[in-house]
Amino acid sequence: MSTELSPIDKAKFVAAKKAVEFVEDGMRVGLGTGSTAAWMVRCLGELVRDEGLKIKGVPTSTRTAQLAREVGIEVVSLDAAKWLDITIDGADEFDGDLNLIKGGGGALLQEKIVATASDQMIVIADAGKEVETLGQFPLPVELVPFGWQTTQALIEETLVSLDVLARKSTLRMNGDTPFVTDEGNHILDLHLKRIGNAQQTAMVLNQMPGVVENGLFIDICDRVVIGYGDGRVEVR
Ligand code: 5RP
Repeated sequence: MSTELSPIDKAKFVAAKKAVEFVEDGMRVGLGTGSTAAWMVRCLGELVRDEGLKIKGVPTSTRTAQLAREVGIEVVSLDAAKWLDITIDGADEFDGDLNLIKGGGGALLQEKIVATASDQMIVIADAGKEVETLGQFPLPVELVPFGWQTTQALIEETLVSLDVLARKSTLRMNGDTPFVTDEGNHILDLHLKRIGNAQQTAMVLNQMPGVVENGLFIDICDRVVIGYGDGRVEVR
């Protein structure tokens, strides 16, 4: 399957393929969102179909739920599953401490809830996602639509007190209209370039009225499976 893939897709595929080895029969599995996570859902679907693997999947977005059903994974809600054995998801950036930026696909809220309700979270990523310091990738922040411009102004004002290199923010758009998340919210992308203290940034952002959640995943990820364009894979 991986032979006709571009190097980047091959990297995502081999990471996904390796990560599903951590899934065992009977597990409740958090299913991430994004192009890398989609490979993982397809790989799990193959195991369900061809090897009789029995799992319950908790998707982190409507699009992952749809794909999971298409490939034959039993989909349940987080509340039905109550707690998860494992979550496998992609990331936009990861650092040496396995802290992450997520939310490039706009699913950070459900992704964080699901990952936090899991015994272990495994991130699957191509090698290009590794960074020394988080922040080159714009940090997604989920905002309630009510008064979002006021919340944006408050965030930009507060960024002055944080250890970041740049302080610009843009509302994520879907064509001419604001992007709307599965929870009916908007996403503000913070262009910070470098986040000196990710823990403090995450805490400060989440204290603001109007902010629902931010895309910094601190001390949540247990393991990263890194795929390379030549088919190599590394588990950290
Ligand atoms: C979605 C996410 C994704 O996991 C992240 O954006 C990585 O996506 P991709 O695997 O397509 O690069 O956080 O909200």
